[in-house]
Amino acid sequence: MTKEQLNNLLSQMTIEEKIGQLVQLTTEYFNESGEITGPLANLDITEEQVNNCGSVIGAHGAKVTRSIQEQYLAKSRLKIPLVFMSDIVHGSNTIFPSPLGLSSSFNPENAKICSQVAAKEACVQGHHVTFAPMVDLARDARWGRNMETTGEDPYLNSLYARAFVEGFQGNSLTDENTIAACVKHFAAYGMVLAGREYNMVDLSERFLREWHFPSYRAGIDAGSAMVMTSFNTVNSVPATGNKWLMNDVLRGEMGFDGAVISDWGAVKEQLEHRTAANEKEAAIKALNAGCDMEMMTPCYYHTLKEAYENGEVSMELIDTSVMRMLELKNKLGLFENPYRFGDEAAEKTVLLSDEFKSLAKKVSDESIVLLKNNGVLPLENANVVLTGPLSDSNDLMGPWSWQGRFEDVVKVKDALSEAHYIETSRLTNAQISYLSGTVIYVGGEYGNESGEAHSKTNIDLSENQVNDIKRLKAQGLKVVLVLFNGRPLALREILNDVDAIVECWHLGTMAGSCVRDVLLGKVNPSGKLTMSFPYNTGQCPIFYNDFPTGRPLNSNYFDYVSKYEDAPNTPLFSFGHGLNYSDIKITDIKYSSTILEDEIKVDVTLTNTGRTGVEVVQLYVKDLAADVIRPNKELKAFNRVEVKDTAAVTLKITKDMLMYYNDQCEFKYDAGQFEIMIGLNSIDIASTIIVVK
Ligand code: BGC
Repeated sequence: MTKEQLNNLLSQMTIEEKIGQLVQLTTEYFNESGEITGPLANLDITEEQVNNCGSVIGAHGAKVTRSIQEQYLAKSRLKIPLVFMSDIVHGSNTIFPSPLGLSSSFNPENAKICSQVAAKEACVQGHHVTFAPMVDLARDARWGRNMETTGEDPYLNSLYARAFVEGFQGNSLTDENTIAACVKHFAAYGMVLAGREYNMVDLSERFLREWHFPSYRAGIDAGSAMVMTSFNTVNSVPATGNKWLMNDVLRGEMGFDGAVISDWGAVKEQLEHRTAANEKEAAIKALNAGCDMEMMTPCYYHTLKEAYENGEVSMELIDTSVMRMLELKNKLGLFENPYRFGDEAAEKTVLLSDEFKSLAKKVSDESIVLLKNNGVLPLENANVVLTGPLSDSNDLMGPWSWQGRFEDVVKVKDALSEAHYIETSRLTNAQISYLSGTVIYVGGEYGNESGEAHSKTNIDLSENQVNDIKRLKAQGLKVVLVLFNGRPLALREILNDVDAIVECWHLGTMAGSCVRDVLLGKVNPSGKLTMSFPYNTGQCPIFYNDFPTGRPLNSNYFDYVSKYEDAPNTPLFSFGHGLNYSDIKITDIKYSSTILEDEIKVDVTLTNTGRTGVEVVQLYVKDLAADVIRPNKELKAFNRVEVKDTAAVTLKITKDMLMYYNDQCEFKYDAGQFEIMIGLNSIDIASTIIVVK
């Protein structure tokens, strides 16, 4: 439709129809015959309101989406189609690694591949919008939703945000195989206090701008059609009703002109936050803040009409939000074809196709991080003992696996069928006493130990697993720990009891095959951590890009320095860490100049005396004197490169990499000295001082 046609449509809508466009309900309110079922009474809304509702969350399959749309349109006076939205986060049917795993490849192209495949599978099922990417920066391993993030670095998060959006949306939302993206959760949800889910967030505006806004902005600049509000407060105001955040920053500064949806129930949750006295206040605050659509609470339905009639909200405000929803539907081509690319027959050939599985395999291989290896890996053959709670499990996809089915997941036990498998429940001391050689212990966390509403106060490996590992080691076996988990774990307890640690995160459909190939050396691991692994839970939150203190550990204040009595200040494994089976070293670093005018080129030479492998050359920056405290190091550039015998990588340093927000929130860089650090992780780094004129 043209803008004129959309305006014409809007002008014909009643207030009830307009408010309906601003509400999203679950499929329970619709069944295939179009009857209203489910928890209608819970929301206390009428049948007419259901029939006017603008969007459905969670419908899946071409048959269901078509049927709901058909029935809906048959009753709709103005024939404005429904828009279907769902959480298609790391795959639809073919499941890829969780975002934390995807980021570990330091290869944003993998996020693009994952979302392209997800979009294809979603499209054929009649889907229109995904609630992804989640681009929240995360720093606290206790939080359950770390697995949905791309980690603790704003620069890497931004690259991934862009890649996800480009993958889902392609060049145009009218093209086949594209779905609209929804960047979430605006803003700073990853900072929930003490890692406790849904908790409040308190941050200075400076940190918000410097650490958190960049990834949302990157997703928006890449064209994300939608943005979702976050559950948390920002500056003590819940994001969903936060006019400064949603209106001034998101729309004003970031120039976002798409549609905003609340997170599930977040409009009404303002009552729980005690920032709204009743549903009407909650609705008015959210609408005023620019929250166009309310997900799954009835404040808009119950109160907006009355608020308009009393002059508490203007028709202009309502129309602005309605137009954004109509524009979204228009961008998706729904007015021309309300079923879009849903195609029941094609589902059979498209979903979980061999092509998608092989893409998932490649991407999953690259997400695996080899944390420790004393030479036991790669294995010479699969003649090993296999045990551990996840060795014969298909619970390897992790949360938000949408239509991923357990039965489609390759289990480690099936992939390593030659191994001598022992159920963990049978791992008695008597049983262990017969074992020799190498044992592959597959453990970590079950899928439901992370994800939304799954925060923990203890991120150690479970007691049973620690106990198994210690007994296996005491027997003299070589122990290879293969981990599936949704957050960094505290592994200190078993670090010296294992010979190798293979971190898989949640690998998805192809999990077992990837584990096999890495263990046997068919695949040379190449992943690097994007979240630091704490020494123990008490260190949380811990992150590589931390800050100086007035009393650093090695300063001259006797005992009165910044430290713990019972743990080091550093994590067990830091951001950027990840081993491989090669022997790759940086053998030369050449700066084109140490004075930065326009740009400095840094030529890095890598030499490999082992098998061909992939390394990630990482460039970190430290501002040596600024107006405000600046991180001890910040990733500003990296290059993932394959190294046969030798490879050369060029990284560039430009002034925009050195910019920061000062105490007045002005974005600037300083003249003066900066330390540039280059390495294959964030710890073993070679430093050079450059001067900025
Ligand atoms: C989550 C969102 C999700 C929404 C819809 C909420 O509970 O926080 O990330 O998109 O539910 O499923």
